[in-house]
This record gives sequence, structure tokens and C-alpha cells, in this order.
Amino acid sequence: MTVPPVPPPTWGRFCVETSASPSLTTKVDRYRIEAVRNVRGEPLTGLEAGTKFVRLESISELPSGGGDLFGVTQHLVYTRAAERPDLVTTPLPGQDALCVVIPLTKSEAWWQLALDEREAMFRGATRAGHVEVGLAYARIILRKLYHSRPLPGSAWDFVTYFEFAPAHRPQFEALLAGLRDPAKNPEWNYVERESEIWLSRIGTLLT
Ligand code: HEM
Repeated sequence: MTVPPVPPPTWGRFCVETSASPSLTTKVDRYRIEAVRNVRGEPLTGLEAGTKFVRLESISELPSGGGDLFGVTQHLVYTRAAERPDLVTTPLPGQDALCVVIPLTKSEAWWQLALDEREAMFRGATRAGHVEVGLAYARIILRKLYHSRPLPGSAWDFVTYFEFAPAHRPQFEALLAGLRDPAKNPEWNYVERESEIWLSRIGTLLT
């Protein structure tokens, strides 16, 4: 498969929908919250099932809005050239896709590691690691990674976003179970806060 170029840094914010008009450079994806699940650490509060929710995205600025679920996409850090064709994410699964936002924060111990030590957590000779666990799902689950740790006011290190066809929900659950199994992926030993926000899509506005 041809490897697409890495997109320019894209600012993203997930927040409760308000009547405020987005700026002219902002793309708006609209959702309904189906469920919020706190997986570990301090619970995510203030988001209820049934609430209208949006993703605001811009390549020129961090869109304004409430909450602390925001970040910016960036260049590749751990991906290897030979893996790129197999890691190309899937095209949009469609209007009826299930969408999930997973913000997460890693421990201070993680951030004290050097690059080679962190990379060793992603893959290994004796167990799978993040990349290998994820590879099997790259073609059926669209993913987007926003980095949040350096941004003022952020309570999270990352905000991750996924879309998949409803029929692939069991595969998504299996992916999460695999990533969260320290025997397969020791990286998750360093995750100290994690929540899931399950969404159904209402539509997209391009301004
Ligand atoms: C569809 C399956 C998945 C694949 C193929 C995949 C693959 C990858 C790859 C290749 C990277 C490294 C990106 C880089 O070069 O910087 C990465 C990073 C990351 N992924 Fe996944 N991933 C998958 C699913 C997930 C899921 C379900 C989560 C959250 C629950 C997740 C959370 C993250 C995070 C937080 C990072 C950044 C880690 C860090 O920089 O410390 N991924 N993923």
C-alpha cells in the first residue's frame, strides 16, 4: 500500500456542543455521547450520555471551547519505515460509524525514560507490544493521535480518537483488551489515567 504523507499538525478539541459559531478555519464533527467509561485513575466528570458533543479541528489554531480534551497531531516518533505500509489507517468507516475518544495520561516514570527505553515498550522479542497488538486492526479501525502533554491547561498526555463500523465493535474491544494486557504490552503499566467516551456520529460541518 502507498504510504500517505504525514498530515500537517492539526489542532483538535473535543467538547460539549454550544451555540457559539466556530471560526472559519474550523472543521466540526458532531456526535451524541452514548456512554462514558472510566478505566483507571481520576474519573472524567461532566459528560453525560445523551449530550451533544463536537470535535473541532483546525490546522491554524487550537479551536476555542470548554473542557480539557484537546491536543495536536504531530510527526511520527516510534513508527519504523518498514512498518508504515501496514500501519496506514483505514478510510472513514461511514456515517453510521461508532466513534470513541480515549484520553490518557502516563506516569512520571514513563516520561523519565529515554527514547530507546520507551521504544522498547512498544515492541519486543518476547511479547507483542503496542505496534504488533494494533497491526491486526489498522485496516478496520481509523485512529488519530493528538498530543496534549505540553499544552497549557491540559490534564491529559494524549487524546486518542477511533472510528469503526458497528460490526467491528468486538474487534475494537479485543484491541483494547490486548493493549491493556501488560503481558502483551508493558507500555500500559505506565498508563495511570484513562477514560472512554463512546459516541454516535450526527454529522460534519465544513466552514
Ligand atoms: C488500530 C490499532 C492501533 C494501531 C495500529 C496503533 C499504532 C500506533 C503507533 C504505530 C504508534 C506510534 C506513533 C508514532 O510513531 O509516534 C502509536 C502511538 C500511540 N497509540 Fe496506538 N495504535 C492502535 C490503537 C491504539 C489504541 C486503541 C489506543 C488507546 C487506547 C492507542 C494509543 C496510542 C497512544 C497514546 C500513542 C502514543 C504513545 C506515546 O507517544 O507514548 N493506540 N499507536
